[in-house]
Amino acid sequence: MNLQDTVKKLFIDRIERHIFLCADQSKPKCCDKELGIACWEYLKKRLQELGLDRPSQLNANCVFRTKANCLRVCLEGPILLVYPDGVWYRQATPEVIEQILQQHILGNQIVKEYAFYIHPLDNIVKFD
Ligand code: FES
Repeated sequence: MNLQDTVKKLFIDRIERHIFLCADQSKPKCCDKELGIACWEYLKKRLQELGLDRPSQLNANCVFRTKANCLRVCLEGPILLVYPDGVWYRQATPEVIEQILQQHILGNQIVKEYAFYIHPLDNIVKFD
């Protein structure tokens, strides 16, 4: 398998949003290690159940997820970040993750109660 095969296999060419979650940290600072792991497992499971983890007939795009060892905020975690929207969420417990999935990812509305900073990435680079 080469890199282009991997791009197709992981649907990297179809990523619409990328969620980073601080979990299973080597030095847990923003939340208990167990809570972070439970949140990560919840995020993975719900992305799959909602059919967001891969393209489908209903949606040509998908949501990519990455477990981050530390997002350098180290307070009020688990910290969850949604790109390219640039929305930083605090206290991303399973209940809050569900709200983020339903309201932000599916409904395109920021969960204001838990968003502590918004900094969208809209710089476009050329790959020529
Ligand atoms: S340990 Fe979670 S942001 Fe640093």
